[in-house]
Amino acid sequence: MKIQFDEINLRAAMIGDVHGLKSSEIKNEQGAALNALAGFRKLVEEGHYGFPHLPFQTAAVEEIEKYAAKVRGSFDTVCLVGIGGSVLGAWALDCALHGPHPVQRAFGPKHPRLVILDNADPALAMAALESMNPKKTLVVVIAKSGATAETVGVFLMVREWLDRKASRRIVAVTSEDVGDLKALATREGYPTFHFPKNVGGRFSVLSAAGLLPAALTGVNIQKLCKGAAGMTHLAWQPDLAQNLALRSALLHYLIWTRKNKTIQVAFPYSNRLWGAAFWFRQLWAESLGKAKTRKGETVHAGQTPVAALGATDQHSQVQLYMEGPNDKVHTFWTIARPADPGRIPRTKLGLEGFDYLAGQSLAKLLDAEQRATAAALTSYHRPNCTFTLDRLDEEHLGAFLQLLEFQTAFVGELLNVNAFDQEGVELGKKFTFGLMGRKGFEAYREEFQRYEAKRAATRG
Ligand code: PA5
Repeated sequence: MKIQFDEINLRAAMIGDVHGLKSSEIKNEQGAALNALAGFRKLVEEGHYGFPHLPFQTAAVEEIEKYAAKVRGSFDTVCLVGIGGSVLGAWALDCALHGPHPVQRAFGPKHPRLVILDNADPALAMAALESMNPKKTLVVVIAKSGATAETVGVFLMVREWLDRKASRRIVAVTSEDVGDLKALATREGYPTFHFPKNVGGRFSVLSAAGLLPAALTGVNIQKLCKGAAGMTHLAWQPDLAQNLALRSALLHYLIWTRKNKTIQVAFPYSNRLWGAAFWFRQLWAESLGKAKTRKGETVHAGQTPVAALGATDQHSQVQLYMEGPNDKVHTFWTIARPADPGRIPRTKLGLEGFDYLAGQSLAKLLDAEQRATAAALTSYHRPNCTFTLDRLDEEHLGAFLQLLEFQTAFVGELLNVNAFDQEGVELGKKFTFGLMGRKGFEAYREEFQRYEAKRAATRG
């Protein structure tokens, strides 16, 4: 497994002192990075956070594989119902390992497809129900809380749509001892897998939430875990030269907080990594966007993550990145050896604008586009750095996702915020429950009505 991090274009020597980091600035903060590592390690050892343990949970992986082997061949579609961290990991894995949507391989009982219902949008739900055959669909419903309104609403529709043997076609992933999804799964006898207590949605890609859909659609989850385990060993090394996650955490933290780069563009030059970019967007935003430090000081920390796709977004976003506010760090994700280079035919047409490409490859063109964009940004003093995965297979993907999770946890420590809670999403959820008539949320309904009245008065 080989992943590299090229940080040179973050340096002052490349982009100037105002926007780039001097070697001394990086050196001075190495102690803080090592403290972040030690602090996080202590929290993990005390059992507060569990994602670093996931790649080593052989029994859980075997249980998932056993179930997948038992049901294999009886469905052509896995319909995932969930939202946010509960399904973004599964999407990242599917997009990377089965090809980008909407041009995935043909599906059938041997190679089931994944259909993800991650919104309460009736257009998505209805179109999906029309496109799937209830007799050939296995439904996986995922909710750690067991009560997320969007998930429950869609699941009730999907459950009704299944044939009368519904309970044989539903699997649940939820908490072992809380929530109504667990209660329903027990009552109706769904096979059920559990979230570890100390693993939240956005850190759950290597729990059953990510591994079960992956195994059901034919991914080698042992190899995913092997790659992630290798990265975990590296991520505990108190040595910045070896520890990629800690080094990238420190550099992203410094460029953000010292050079005021309040936006991070996650910029894969790979359609297969597009799902992972959306997974990362949630990981970074929800983990690091925080009102207070662990000590209770108000900070309103956060670096806005943006997903951009190379080379497509060179024709959409790069004008802004080059000439707009210099408030971003651009983090490219590239693959050194794509599975198929995509040969361009040798045929020459006698046209100068076409013929120079004859006999080359799309992979070479995409690589040239990325290096050219990095050089252009650098010459405009715009910080950028690059993660390169040697190949895009299970092992490299598992390692890369684990790297990004550790990086996020380490930045959380450097900022001294709790990267594992999400208080900020609660109020909106409570208003929704109030509006939809859930018992116990009457006060939020009333508060919402006062807000509406204020809006009406302001409108005049
Ligand atoms: O990362 C998180 O914790 C969140 O994004 C959750 O995954 C999301 O809110 C869905 O929660 P649940 O799994 O309880 O439906």
